[in-house]
Amino acid sequence: MNYKTLLERAKRAAENSYSPYSGFKVGAALLLENGDVITGCNAENAAFSPSICAERAAVAAAVSAGYRHFKAIAIWGGKNPCYPCGVCRQTLAEFCGGDFEVILSGADGGIEIHKLTELLPFEFKL
Ligand code: THU
Repeated sequence: MNYKTLLERAKRAAENSYSPYSGFKVGAALLLENGDVITGCNAENAAFSPSICAERAAVAAAVSAGYRHFKAIAIWGGKNPCYPCGVCRQTLAEFCGGDFEVILSGADGGIEIHKLTELLPFEFKL
């Protein structure tokens, strides 16, 4: 699947966002090594801390379905690039190798592509 299509899937996933507190709808589309796509959206909570980001929702859905090998993730939070938060970067690093790519919306309807290692150079490891 090309990255533009993956970003479209993330945009569609954002339509399910439950974000009554921030009003900020985010969708994520995780590309599995087998070519399938699993999506997630942010789901907020009145107590704030139980809220989950779209990226972690997608990873949790994939792991719950038995998948642990991922190629890329597209994140949609509107026309400007929605860089993943620090917690989501660390979550992605748990399952993703050095080649894993993060796809974001870019200027003029284009896309930005970053290696996860560029966004999180020194992941925490045990
Ligand atoms: N959010 C995400 O879903 N992903 C990110 O990478 C950044 C932030 C969500 C969390 C919260 O529901 C809303 O965006 C505002 O922070």
